[in-house]
Amino acid sequence: MRCFCVFVLPDGVIGNTWAFGAHIPGSSPGRVGLEISVDGFFSRQEQMSERVAIILAAGVSSRMNTQMPKVLHEVCGRPMLAYVLDACRQVDVKKMYVVVGYGAGQVKEQFSEAEDIIWVTQTDQKGTAHAVMCCQEHLGDFDGETLVLCGDGPLIRSKTLETLFSMHKKSRPAATLATAVLDEPAGYGRIIRDMYGNIQGIVEEGDCTAQQRAIKEVNPSYYLFNNKILFESVKEVKPDNVKNEYYLTDVLSIMLTVGMKVVAVTAVLPEEALSINSREQLSKTSKIMQRRIQKKLMDNGVTIVDPDNTWIDVRAQIGQDTQIEPFTYIHGEVKIGRGCRIGPFAYLRSGTVLENDIVLGVFTEIKNSTLGRSARVRHHSYIGDARIGEKVNIGAGSITANFDGEKVNQMTIGNNCYIGSGAILIAPLELKDDCSVKPGAVVSQENVDNFGKQGEVNVP
Ligand code: UD1
Ligand code: MG
Repeated sequence: MRCFCVFVLPDGVIGNTWAFGAHIPGSSPGRVGLEISVDGFFSRQEQMSERVAIILAAGVSSRMNTQMPKVLHEVCGRPMLAYVLDACRQVDVKKMYVVVGYGAGQVKEQFSEAEDIIWVTQTDQKGTAHAVMCCQEHLGDFDGETLVLCGDGPLIRSKTLETLFSMHKKSRPAATLATAVLDEPAGYGRIIRDMYGNIQGIVEEGDCTAQQRAIKEVNPSYYLFNNKILFESVKEVKPDNVKNEYYLTDVLSIMLTVGMKVVAVTAVLPEEALSINSREQLSKTSKIMQRRIQKKLMDNGVTIVDPDNTWIDVRAQIGQDTQIEPFTYIHGEVKIGRGCRIGPFAYLRSGTVLENDIVLGVFTEIKNSTLGRSARVRHHSYIGDARIGEKVNIGAGSITANFDGEKVNQMTIGNNCYIGSGAILIAPLELKDDCSVKPGAVVSQENVDNFGKQGEVNVP
């Protein structure tokens, strides 16, 4: 059956609107002659279909002033898109249709190992509704609910997505969206409600009247749609706006105009709504993410003496009762055991593994190295590409020389070794257990072989 649809839907939901002929100045539902097959729309939807999401990530992002695809810019060590994908996975989304365009190859390469991503290409970036339309061939016939999110909102929380799913299930509207109330709403689409609180539509900042611009309730772009209605409605979007783009936000007015129900729940925390359109927003978002990372670590028993002056990568793992002193910078996949003291002014880079009870002091840089239990590297040292045993003491100013100008070489230092101050350890090198290196020594494998009785490396 094909018909012009007017649904009779359950009511009693805060912020729902149905049989409402919305015309919002600035939004562009255009002429709506929406024809949708209503056969079993909702009955089939009730049977649990798997959760899917469309994630919009094709934009050029002129405001970022970048050559790199925006969604690859990192927030605390991971591309912003990774957080959005993870939030979906946490609410059991099985398939993610990621729309890519600008820099598509780079984006795909970064996420090439993810088996739950289906890549969709949007060759010309004509707007968010057009990006959704590009998924038609994959999802046009899908009988279920589709989450639609933007790849530039990494502060998204899975808890909010769960709220979206449960609100949607309760009242089975054509669309449920989560909104936020911001003190500074500039840049976001504004939520227009009628005097009863029912949503009437969304107006983009550039299309707002002065009165609409003063509205503080905004659209963070978290939507859950009845999939078939979404794909029927999105075809009706017209680019009648200042940017001449196909706005996804217009599908809501289109749905409302033909009498469908749209639910808007104010469920997004102000900080979570922050999306990244500029370098300034990138740094603001990173700061918020950093606070979240540090809070989680502190909840897990890590002491962070001065959170404002410490930076920890989201991929880092830190054990209980470890203390991070100020001005410590932990970047990349770093594992730190229990009861360690790190910093002040320590720099830990990717591939660093510190076992328990380790002390790293001022101006110590560790890269791609493992340090055994109770090792001490207290002052002004660089350790790179080394496997260091238990209870090793590296004296002040000692360094590994791991790069010979062409390649990086590995080094092994056994248990209980004592490296005096100011030593230069030239890789490739192997020092057996219980070695002692005199202060100021320049130690190569050749020196060790010629002079080094195990127990003392005494270099001329
Ligand atoms: C969008 C919303 C706005 C909301 C804001 C929240 C629209 C029209 N506006 O605005 O209501 O307040 O997000 O963050 O949807 N993209 C594509 N293809 C395109 C255009 C964009 O994939 O043709 C992607 C971008 O890569 C980005 C996302 O869609 O990840 C959002 O686009 P963006 O230009 O950032 O939209 P906003 O202006 O932020
Ligand atoms: Mg944006």
